Amino acid sequence: MLEKSYEYLKEKLNGFVPDTALILGSGLGGVVEAIENPLYIPYSDIPFFPTPTVSGHKGQMCVGKLGKHNVICMQGRFHFYEGIDVRMIYEVIRVLKRLGVERLIVTNAAGSLRVYMPAGSIMLIADHINMSGTNPLIGVCEEPYFPDMSNAYDFEMRQCFMKVAEEERIPVFQGVYMMLTGPNYETPAEVRMLQMFNIEAVGMSTVPEVISAVQLGMKVMGVSVISNLATGMDLHKPNHGEVLQQVGKATQKLTLLLTKFMEKE
Ligand code: HPA
Repeated sequence: MLEKSYEYLKEKLNGFVPDTALILGSGLGGVVEAIENPLYIPYSDIPFFPTPTVSGHKGQMCVGKLGKHNVICMQGRFHFYEGIDVRMIYEVIRVLKRLGVERLIVTNAAGSLRVYMPAGSIMLIADHINMSGTNPLIGVCEEPYFPDMSNAYDFEMRQCFMKVAEEERIPVFQGVYMMLTGPNYETPAEVRMLQMFNIEAVGMSTVPEVISAVQLGMKVMGVSVISNLATGMDLHKPNHGEVLQQVGKATQKLTLLLTKFMEKE
């Protein structure tokens, strides 16, 4: 389906083979500033590629060197709530795989379910719960048909990331991320239900990319930047402006952690 997208990107890359892909979540586009000799490719130039409709998602690829790795970075992702079929997300990850990508690092903005993990915190995703009601693999019908998810967020990558965090003296939480479709924020009653599920963070993305990447045999790491406490946990109401602002403030920390990580592993 995205054969033409692949061909276009392959030609643009001109022999450059990315081994790691990064998907940058809401307001986290600034991470690309750490990439050396960047080449930008707008999604709108890539045949059959969707374009993001949400503010805080630029809609371009940034290709270059980060640490010891060749990276292809998606500055802006596609969300199910934008009306983009999650199967399209699978196809995009498959294009990355065909370009050479073996590891996927996903980032996102998320609401916290823990009062001790306030806005501005960084949470390494240890595992997820797919509450989106859909799955990017529906209709894929390719082996592995029933992919194993026991190490979806690769243990060794997480260990290395935590080591970097310790060395840099940046506090990093680990926890479970749950995806709901959005685009509305949760009601207080929904948040009380989520608290019973014993998860740490909630958001509207990431899970489709991760499931796709696991099926395609990639190693995955996921990092959430906490933009707010979930609805009802404090007095103010979540809103996208605040999400972008809080996440923007944590971008520098995240960029440092990712750059050091990419130098190490
Ligand atoms: N809920 C869901 N998604 C989010 C939130 C939230 O509170 N904050 C940022 N993304």
